[in-house]
Amino acid sequence: MKFFIDTANLDQIKEAQDLGVLDGVTTNPSLMAKEGITGAENIKNHYVKICEIVDGDVSAEVISTDYEGIIKEGEELAKLHDQIIVKVPMIKDGVKAIKYFSDNGIKTNCTLVFSAGQALLAAKAGATYVSPFIGRLDDISTDGLNLIAEIRLIYDNYGFDTQILAASVRHTMHVIDCAKIGADVMTGPLSSIEGLLKHPLTDIGLEKFLADFKKGN
Ligand code: E4P
Repeated sequence: MKFFIDTANLDQIKEAQDLGVLDGVTTNPSLMAKEGITGAENIKNHYVKICEIVDGDVSAEVISTDYEGIIKEGEELAKLHDQIIVKVPMIKDGVKAIKYFSDNGIKTNCTLVFSAGQALLAAKAGATYVSPFIGRLDDISTDGLNLIAEIRLIYDNYGFDTQILAASVRHTMHVIDCAKIGADVMTGPLSSIEGLLKHPLTDIGLEKFLADFKKGN
């Protein structure tokens, strides 16, 4: 399972990269705005900075919603760095654009996916990644993890290459459950990855080992 971090914060990306388990980064317009990164040129420069920190795929989202606009923007983003994955919304023109990008060797992440049918369409169009938003489904009392399981079943039935990128991961249990179901990738906050470290018996055991070592020396 690949671990992506879902942020545009360079310090957090560095911290996750330093841990040695990071496989990539996802961003979106809201995450960019949260870091105060505005304006097309600043945003592009920021993507390049992220690519220089992380050794892996970096999703950069288009703003256009019409076919021609998505193609133009996506081609510009893809040229920024060879780690860039063009993130395209699950809309009709987005699906058409994903097919174009796939035919032209540009990798994509189909975002804002909330149903198995949408995920099937993204795979048919040749998306590299599909991003079902599990946390946002949980927010409206719908089982986000069940969607990951449905997509896993469908993709396995037909041998689709599209990777399931569990997005809108909110906490460590989401990460573990996605791993059990067989999501190819998860993207979440740094806290969801660092939470995997924690167990009270580890802390108690280490404290005792160190105390016993001191006694004998
Ligand atoms: C996916 O790529 C999105 O950036 C993200 O995971 C959305 O998460 P949120 O629902 O916590 O905003």
